[in-house]
Amino acid sequence: TKQWIKVIDLAAVPGDDVVAVEAAGQELALYGVDGAVYATDNICTHGHARLCDGFLEGHEIECPLHQGRFDVRTGKALCEPLAADIRTYPIRIVDGSVFVEI
Ligand code: FES
Repeated sequence: TKQWIKVIDLAAVPGDDVVAVEAAGQELALYGVDGAVYATDNICTHGHARLCDGFLEGHEIECPLHQGRFDVRTGKALCEPLAADIRTYPIRIVDGSVFVEI
């Protein structure tokens, strides 16, 4: 069953950048873009690289290892060498806290 878990204070989400958080024993990457917050798995679908170490440009996160790019809103893999999309998670912001459904 899924549950909503508080992962971070909204004030701690970086603007136009990515940060790693943990929820239910899983590592997620959290993105702040234009005042909105998005969440995906932190580990790339291509190899063992952490997207929190990558480069966020607009809604696209670039993997630090082979420069694959995902859209953080949909998890869609946008270019080679990625073959699989990345999982995304619903976000809710309540009283200044960010919750992820996981
Ligand atoms: Fe991410 Fe290869 S590990 S693109």
